Amino acid sequence: MKNIIVTGGAGFIGSNFVHWVVENRPGVHVTVLDKLTYAGNLENLAGVPDDRMDFVRGDICDAGLVDGLFAGADAVVHFAAESHNDNSIADPAPFVRTNVEGTFTLLEAARRHDVRFHHISTDEVYGDLALDDPARFTEETPYRPSSPYSSTKASSDLLVRAWVRTYGVRATISNCSNNYGPRQHIEKFIPRQITNVLCGIRPKLYGDGRNVRDWIHTEDHSSAVWAILEGGRIGETYLIGADGERSNIDVLRAILAEMGKAPDDFDWVRDRPGHDRRYAIDPTKLRRELGWRPAHVDFASGLRDTIAWYRDNRPWWEGAKEATEAKYAKQGQ
Ligand code: NAD
Ligand code: TYD
Repeated sequence: MKNIIVTGGAGFIGSNFVHWVVENRPGVHVTVLDKLTYAGNLENLAGVPDDRMDFVRGDICDAGLVDGLFAGADAVVHFAAESHNDNSIADPAPFVRTNVEGTFTLLEAARRHDVRFHHISTDEVYGDLALDDPARFTEETPYRPSSPYSSTKASSDLLVRAWVRTYGVRATISNCSNNYGPRQHIEKFIPRQITNVLCGIRPKLYGDGRNVRDWIHTEDHSSAVWAILEGGRIGETYLIGADGERSNIDVLRAILAEMGKAPDDFDWVRDRPGHDRRYAIDPTKLRRELGWRPAHVDFASGLRDTIAWYRDNRPWWEGAKEATEAKYAKQGQ
């Protein structure tokens, strides 16, 4: 694998993946295809040497552009998506277009050019679990998405499966739990609360705060994706998780403690409609088949580094803060 295309490589997880590849796989050249929506930022790729990466600004729904790029590629790792649940509730249209039509456009090109395809997806396709349910999601869990976001991701996963079975496209899928780390857009839970504290705004907790997310550091997501790209069996799905279940209120209290604030220094706000209660990943298949292990097993230390990153990189997020909070305020959140 010498030439890979990374869609959505200017976003949070995609850019972390590009940095991971550049640092860990010296012989690989990356072409990033990214539309640079509100969530994409070229600064996320700063520091990547010119001879290791080309950047193409474009839409994954643009069949002509995609076809030309796929002609010379060995593999595609597909991160590009509309990725935020709250946005999907306010306006689902771009989610259907990018996540469903965009994935369809890429799959058609992968079919024409016989390019190895890895599709990045989410554990949210499986719906949610009760807080007291001993079960975790596995590759066999039935799809039961709740939100416009997760239903479009589920749709894209099903397209990939059909293109494998019907046309023999050489594809794999990974469904990962909630990522945290540097360069995550400040609309998301952890960076929203960190930047709130840095701006003197009280953090905002939805509903009763007991919803559980299964947190993984984005670098561990990157190493898992590479392991699947190299060693995953064609047509298979792999769940990626790092045993990181935590309630939202526990995560928020950890942020408050780390930033020198009192444990109740936050506001309870309106719950998200259809809010999934709990996500939890059983990563046994990935560990057993590919020998993958997470490197960031200490959440407290990963969170401390993430807080430090937002403190040290104010110009990266400051310009988006007012508009992001104004959008939430309109929703009562
Ligand atoms: P993000 O919103 O930070 O980045 C998305 C990127 O895709 C941006 O750079 C954006 O410009 C680009 N993009 C959007 N529409 C495009 C289009 N039509 N054409 C080309 N580029 C386009 O998202 P993220 O959090 O980095 O998520 C990346 C992927 O990982 C998504 O597929 C998401 O579903 C999946 N995922 C995310 C998480 C998480 O916790 N954030 C967890 C599991 C899976
Ligand atoms: P989010 O980062 O949007 O990820 P996802 O919806 O994909 O899990 O939210 C993570 C959790 O945090 C989710 O249960 C919703 C909650 N949340 C808040 O309590 N307050 C907030 O300001 C945000 C953005 C999210």
